[in-house]
Amino acid sequence: MRSLYCGELNATHLDQQVTLCGWVHRRRDHGGVIFVDLRDHHGIAQVVFDPDTEKTFAVAERVRNEYVLQVTGRVRRRPEGTENPDMATGEVEVLGLELTVLNSAETPPFQLDDEEVNEEARLRYRYIDLRRPQMQERLRLRARITHAMRSYLDEQGFIDVETPILTRSTPEGARDYLVPSRTHAGEFFALPQSPQLFKQLLMMSGVDRYYQIARCFRDEDLRADRQPEFTQLDIETSFLEEDDIMGITETMVRNLFRDVLDVALPDPFPRMTYAESMRRFGTDRPDLRIPLELVDLGDVMQAVEFKVFSGPANDPDGRIAALRVPGGGGISRKEIDDYTKYVSKYGARGLAYIKVNDVAAGRDGLQSPILKFLPDEVITAIVERTGIVDGDVVFFGADKTRIVNESLGALRVKLGIDRGMLQGEWEPVWVVDFPMFEHDEKSGRWMALHHPFTAPNIDDPAALSENPGTSLSRAYDMVLNGTELGGGSIRIHRTDMQEAVLRLLGIGEEEARDKFGFLLDALKYGCPPHGGIAFGVDRLVMLMTGAQSIREVMAFPKTQTAACPLTNAPSSVATGQLIELGIHLHKPPVIES
Ligand code: AMO
Ligand code: AMP
Repeated sequence: MRSLYCGELNATHLDQQVTLCGWVHRRRDHGGVIFVDLRDHHGIAQVVFDPDTEKTFAVAERVRNEYVLQVTGRVRRRPEGTENPDMATGEVEVLGLELTVLNSAETPPFQLDDEEVNEEARLRYRYIDLRRPQMQERLRLRARITHAMRSYLDEQGFIDVETPILTRSTPEGARDYLVPSRTHAGEFFALPQSPQLFKQLLMMSGVDRYYQIARCFRDEDLRADRQPEFTQLDIETSFLEEDDIMGITETMVRNLFRDVLDVALPDPFPRMTYAESMRRFGTDRPDLRIPLELVDLGDVMQAVEFKVFSGPANDPDGRIAALRVPGGGGISRKEIDDYTKYVSKYGARGLAYIKVNDVAAGRDGLQSPILKFLPDEVITAIVERTGIVDGDVVFFGADKTRIVNESLGALRVKLGIDRGMLQGEWEPVWVVDFPMFEHDEKSGRWMALHHPFTAPNIDDPAALSENPGTSLSRAYDMVLNGTELGGGSIRIHRTDMQEAVLRLLGIGEEEARDKFGFLLDALKYGCPPHGGIAFGVDRLVMLMTGAQSIREVMAFPKTQTAACPLTNAPSSVATGQLIELGIHLHKPPVIES
């Protein structure tokens, strides 16, 4: 139907006859001449209809935004002074000779170049929203990225294997989406939170290197980088160790950045232990573009009379840390109040601070409501450890370690962004040496920091059982600019170790049999040492396109309340369907008329 794409049009086509198809992006009536910006996925071309071509002009008068047109015309240079350097096709225009309206369109619910449309409307009319050039670009970039991943992994000897969507619960720590079975009334499938167990079974099946671009389903609280349904690049290998897997996958990511964005990421990526990351940044996904760090002060605060500090200083689960902000002395009282409110979301009960006017003057050169509680030697220690100089401000967090880490960790990122302190554009890092378990305060139980199939870095199940709190795992996370892009581990491949870990997690023999019996059986029939990783494809594309949320790089995402305004899913179903499934609802479904 066309001879070229709108976006391809350029001066090399001068004087040629071309046929374009696309949507009316904009239509302007300029004193007898009608201009139509015709848009396809490739770009926008300007078409001019002149009253001289009477019949065509009459049709052009009727067209409105988003009409679908086929236009045949002659390419000519735009009159001097009317070129548009912002358009790739801006030097030329098409003088429309023939015009067919392939379809009309109702007035769209929003303008494509309106940046302020609310998200509900964008998702409800996603097919219009996706026509925006920026959305088209993101979809295309996403396809390029997944294509590049496939090519690279194919070259490296990986094969793509699909795993079931209707399956059993997998333990990634979120709530499951359940699907009722008709043929087994009262029983349910779970949608996979990840292909974790199947990819391990594939290693036991002799598939040496597996990958899959896999859908995962997790019913959890949503955020900018979390969706109930998302995509992983899922990888598993046999007979490879941490360094091999990290090497193969970081080369993949480096090549992607080189080929798609022309960006050179470091080779190799730096590595940091979990302990160091928590200590310096309060998080296991540090944004290394931000030149701010936490500094510990617990040891110098044990004897101070200020209970807010001496309490956590004497608590083995407590932490006192300082965050120095160079040049932050000008931060106003109101801003400090706002930051205090901000950290309170993370459980912090306050945000003590000291402003530095003249560090050489000692106590008199400092300004803070807490100075009166701190003896001289503590002030000296604060000055020495944080390295504060005139014009700085230093913030303090004092509480349970978890609260200090979460609140100061988040404050660090917020300050870095608010104050324009980001250094470097792309800062990848591997976080390694995770603890095997963390203690859950509420249930009093050990929880797997990664998942229950991750191998500890010791071989002896008895030694692990004796020291669950200090054992490290063989897990690794790839972090980019503060986002966890991927996580993986070497897995347990022996029954005795797997049983020991499940026992430590408080999963009894019966429950283990019931939930993972198939895996425990498979471990007994010749399981090779194996390990892998999974990357969040949506997150990677979000970062690579500069989008603010993964919803911007998914064709049909869900809202923050896990619903789809386009299809109106989830929805109630016919009573007959429920009866067939043996399901009785406590509250009758609301049937929409
Ligand atoms: P994990 O749970 O760390 O590991 O997930 C791997 C990566 O998937 C992405 N991700 C998400 N992206 C969007 N929305 C979500 N709700 C969401 N949850 C996770 C993140 C994360 O790094 N089976 C293991 C992997 C393994 O051990 O090989 C797993 O799923 O980018
Ligand atoms: P207060 O004695 O509660 O008035 O607190 C004095 C200062 O300490 C204020 O600036 C508070 O914001 C701060 N503060 C209180 N609790 C904490 C805490 N847990 N961590 C850090 N600062 C705190």
